[in-house]
Formats: sequence, C-alpha cells, structure tokens
Amino acid sequence: MSEKIRILAIETSCDETAAAVVENGRRVLSNVISSQIEIHRLYGGVVPEIASRNHMEKINQVINQALEEADVALDGIDAVGVTYGPGLVGALLVGVAEAKAISYARGLPLVGVHHIEGHVSANYIEHPELEPPFLCLIVSGGHTNLVIVEDYGEFRILGSARDDAAGEAFDKVARAIGLRYPGGPEIDKLAGEGNPQAISFPRAKIEGAPYDFSFSGVKSSVLNYINQRKMQGLEIPKADLAASFQRSVVSVLTEHAMQAAEEFHIDRVALAGGVAANQGLRRAMSQACEERGLALYYPSPVYCTDNAAMIGAAAYYEYKKGVRHGWDLNAVPNLKLKSV
Ligand code: KG4
Ligand code: ZN
Repeated sequence: MSEKIRILAIETSCDETAAAVVENGRRVLSNVISSQIEIHRLYGGVVPEIASRNHMEKINQVINQALEEADVALDGIDAVGVTYGPGLVGALLVGVAEAKAISYARGLPLVGVHHIEGHVSANYIEHPELEPPFLCLIVSGGHTNLVIVEDYGEFRILGSARDDAAGEAFDKVARAIGLRYPGGPEIDKLAGEGNPQAISFPRAKIEGAPYDFSFSGVKSSVLNYINQRKMQGLEIPKADLAASFQRSVVSVLTEHAMQAAEEFHIDRVALAGGVAANQGLRRAMSQACEERGLALYYPSPVYCTDNAAMIGAAAYYEYKKGVRHGWDLNAVPNLKLKSV
C-alpha cells in the first residue's frame, strides 16, 4: 500500500501556536512552534486572554511556514487535524476556527483531536516499531494519567491525578523558590546540581487506588519547608530542594508504572507530555525498565511539550478509523479522556 495521507495539524490549546504537516501519522514533514513563553513569563504563568490574542496574531504565519517547510501546498493536504480540548477555551477556539475555515474553503475532512491523545501519539513519530497495546504514563502541565493504550486512540485509564498534575507541582515549587516560568525545566536543571537524598519529602499512596496520583502533599511539604527555613533565618538549599522534590515525584511515577506493567503483563512502556522531558524521570524509568526487561519509549523533548506534529500523528489514526467532524466542532475546555 503506497497511499500517502498528509495531515495539516493545528495546536493552540495553551501557550504554543503550532502547525505541522505529518505523513501517514509518523513522518513529520514540518513542525513549527511559535512559543509565547517569553510573554507569559512576565506574569509568572499563562494569561488566557493574552494567549488567545497571540494565537490570533501568529496562527496564519505559523501555518504558512509549516506548509512551506513541508514543501506541500494545500492541494497536497488530505485532511486538517486540530486540538479541540482540553485547554484554554479562548486559545482552543483560535485553532478550531482556523481549522474549520481551511477545511471548509478547501473541501477537506476535519478531524478534531483530544490533546492528550496527541501527547501519547508523539511516541509514534520516532518509534516506527511502537504499536498498541502498551502502557503509557502521561505527565503534562494539566494531566497525570497512567493508561493502557489498547489501540490507537483507545485508552484504558488505570489511574489519574486526584489533585495537582505532575507538571503543575513542578511549576508551583519552582515559583516558590524564585525560578522562572515554566518551572519544570528549571527544576530539572537545578536538580542536576543537588543531592536528591538531602531532604525527605512525602510520596503519596492512595488507599484502594494504587494507580491514582496525588502531588499536593509533596507540594505543601515543600512550601512548609521553605517557610520554616525562612522563619529560622536560614538559607534555602535550592539545588538540594529541587533534587529532593524531583526524586519524590519521579519515584511515585516510576513505582506506579512498574506496578501496572507487572499487574497487566505489559512489556512496553511509553512516556508522554511535557514532564516526559524530565531527565530524572527518563533516567529512573530507563533503569526500572531495564531491570525488568521492559522496552521504554519516550519522545524527543520537542515532541514532549506542546506541538502540532503529535496532533497530526493522532489525527491520522482517527482519520483512518473514519472520524470526521462537522462545522459544529467546538472547543471543549474540559474534554475528558474516554476510558474503554
Ligand atoms: O504537555 P505540556 O507542554 O502542556 C500541557 O499539556 O500541560 O506540559 C507542560 C508542563 C509544564 O508544567 C512544564 O513545567 C513541564 O511540562 N515540563 C517539565 C519539563 N519540561 C516541561 N517538567 C519537568 N521537567 C522538564 N524537563
Ligand atoms: Zn500539552
């Protein structure tokens, strides 16, 4: 079979305006990301109104650049894929409206994509041998889920975050020690200079829900530690704190994933989402998987954080299943991940 399906993919759920052209779900012809991080950094986090306005300003040029870099005209595109949730409603709307306009004008099929399905699908780009079923640990700024990817776009959810998502905890702890937004990569860097055994932070287990996560306890414990040191007039050992906090989060994530792999007899494990770029997590997961003879997959950092190539990968498999959205496709800020 030599048919080539090329998807123009659009992602605007948070603070990256992104477009990509992806062939047959796995071959990235272009991947353009216009990041608003510098703008939001001034405010210490994403300001929704500013995000929407910047998406509107950038979206057309980002799409044109993606088509140019792929050396494909709109005539050579077979479908338009777009993130329609979850995310910031005003930000999502820019991408959804743009995708609808292009598909309507060009008579192209429209495929709405769940942002988290996109993150999982980022793994298909660089690992041609990876196919479902596999276990996936999804760790982003807004989500923490442990799932079995039963088939393309079909997830059996084993566990989820009860409170803060992993990335959210990284961002909040980073902010508390004066690191800039987004905090995850800053903690990751600083952790490399610290001693992960220096401070003992809790690792939450939830009674009766072995695969659920709770990171608000460790976050509060870090904030208490900082306050106590301040009250005592002591300096805060930032590198040791970053390393110890990261170790606490990473060990919970790794233990949950390993327990699930064992219980469900799965020998392939993947990481997805922005926190999958974390060096400590990659190291701990690599070691744990190696010890148990499991194969571990994770995307390159550029495909871990928000991008449109991952949306193009997910859209392709939805397209192949026959999924087509109508002109009533809307942004759904709290779109749920369905469990099979
Ligand atoms: O997946 P993503 O780009 O956006 C969402 O869908 O939420 O994830 C962003 C999150 C942020 O919380 C950011 O701090 C975190 O991923 N992150 C990291 C690293 N790079 C990004 N966390 C830890 N270590 C990193 N290297
Ligand atoms: Zn994301």
